[in-house]
Amino acid sequence: MKFDLSMTDELLATTRSVRKRLDLERPVPRELILECLELAVQAPTASNSQKWRWIIVDDPKLRAALADLYRRAAKDYLAQATVATSGQGDSQTARVYESAIWLADHLANVPVFVIPCLDGRPAPTAPVAMLSAIYGSIFPAMWSFQLALRARGLGSTLTTLHLVHEREAASLLGLPDNILQVALLPVGYTKGTDFKRAVRPSVSSITHWNAW
Ligand SMILES: Cc1cc2nc3c(=O)[nH]c(=O)nc-3n(C[C@H](O)[C@H](O)[C@H](O)COP(=O)(O)O)c2cc1C
Repeated sequence: MKFDLSMTDELLATTRSVRKRLDLERPVPRELILECLELAVQAPTASNSQKWRWIIVDDPKLRAALADLYRRAAKDYLAQATVATSGQGDSQTARVYESAIWLADHLANVPVFVIPCLDGRPAPTAPVAMLSAIYGSIFPAMWSFQLALRARGLGSTLTTLHLVHEREAASLLGLPDNILQVALLPVGYTKGTDFKRAVRPSVSSITHWNAW
């Protein structure tokens, strides 16, 4: 099999965090979410553990309640972060915060939330190797999910701010104590599909061969 590299590279390079360009009016069919999750669960997991669980929320009342938790956490964090970075001349980060505040204000209207979870939570004293294995067993799938969305004209942002109020969110979702929420991905169709590469440091400036 030969991949079309230009399409593959374009998908990998231009799958952005989409907030303001989410179409809040256009419903997202449930089958499309499931189709993208089918691809996502091809991702690797530590020891083939596959402890992922996916909570999908399309009920408007539940979205509003979760969005309320998100907004409470986001307002505090983003106000501090915006002040801390203002005047540093980093226009990309300033745009991210502005867009993140917009999302906090409009989250309830995003058609679908996908909440990736793990069955089992780490002990507070879990060693680094275990933490890496646990969280590393869901982030690859989350990213595959986002790539699959982009390939179908949808978009999302990986968010974690609602976890500031994790227990309240768990109670809204009826989650048992052993289920660990990892993120919240607000999903919608995107307005247009022409996303660009982000500015990143050159790989040579952040890469070390053989030693630091
Ligand atoms: C672990 C993680 C947590 C994040 N949490 C949030 C969040 O709570 N809210 C948000 O708006 N964006 C969140 N983001 C998205 C980042 O802000 C975004 O990836 C970054 O600004 C780069 O933009 P890009 O993804 O378009 O390249 C998160 C990203 C990661 C990887």
